[in-house]
Amino acid sequence: MTALLEVEDLRVAYGKIEAVKGISFKVDAGEVVTLIGTNGAGKTTTLRTLSGLLKPVGGQIRFDGRSLKKTPAHKIVSLGLAHSPEGRHIFPRMTIEDNLRLGAFLRSDRTGIEKDIQRAYDLFPILGERRKQAAGTLSGGEQQMLAMGRALMSQPKLLMLDEPSMGLSPIMMQKIMATIAELKSQGTTILLVEQNAQAALSLADHGHVMEIGKIVLTGTGQDLLHDESVRKAYLGED
Ligand SMILES: Nc1ncnc2c1ncn2[C@@H]1O[C@H](COP(=O)(O)OP(=O)(O)OP(=O)(O)O)[C@@H](O)[C@H]1O
Ligand SMILES: [Mg+2]
Repeated sequence: MTALLEVEDLRVAYGKIEAVKGISFKVDAGEVVTLIGTNGAGKTTTLRTLSGLLKPVGGQIRFDGRSLKKTPAHKIVSLGLAHSPEGRHIFPRMTIEDNLRLGAFLRSDRTGIEKDIQRAYDLFPILGERRKQAAGTLSGGEQQMLAMGRALMSQPKLLMLDEPSMGLSPIMMQKIMATIAELKSQGTTILLVEQNAQAALSLADHGHVMEIGKIVLTGTGQDLLHDESVRKAYLGED
């Protein structure tokens, strides 16, 4: 079987500074794969490159059987790669429902769009209850739900989530993680970037630990969760 996403020797630079220094990993259909690592490791840079927002200086990206190297960002969305960015970037003055609709901007199947809006409300009932309110009135965790719901509106083959638990209370974080597990059980393929290594590895089929632009450790979620160096560096044990 060929992987849904294959990243090979990817290198990304900001000017002269190389932020991603030749990383390789893959994501099979139906899997949750996580990238964990400390601040500045290059996780967000990797996702932004996969989305076409940054151009790599080297390496290969293959998604669903084709190279993405020269594909513009909007085309990448239409090929089925969706990105819920770090910091959410919802539109605070627009209603919750209009924010969701924006996620479907490349679709024209009206009934399908309505069905998927309903699906987002089923997944996150609070969004449905407040659909006509400005998105800026949502709490941080609820805005995270909206960002995930919006990314799902493009009917992605691969959903990339950048730090969905950032800044959330433990309860809200658990909710978000439970939703990721639910999406996985529905067959959504997910590439999850997290600083919360415990939560991410518990969910993930495979994980990669990034440090200053490189992948330094790879394994199944369970292997990494029990790895001594990971426990020391990322799970706060000594
Ligand atoms: N626009 C930019 N211009 C210059 N350097 C940048 C830019 N964005 C990121 N960097 C640098 O690239 C490196 C990787 O940053 P990146 O945001 O990818 O890390 P990250 O793993 O997502 O970190 P965090 O966990 O803090 O979100 C860092 O050293 C960062 O300072
Ligand atoms: Mg980041």
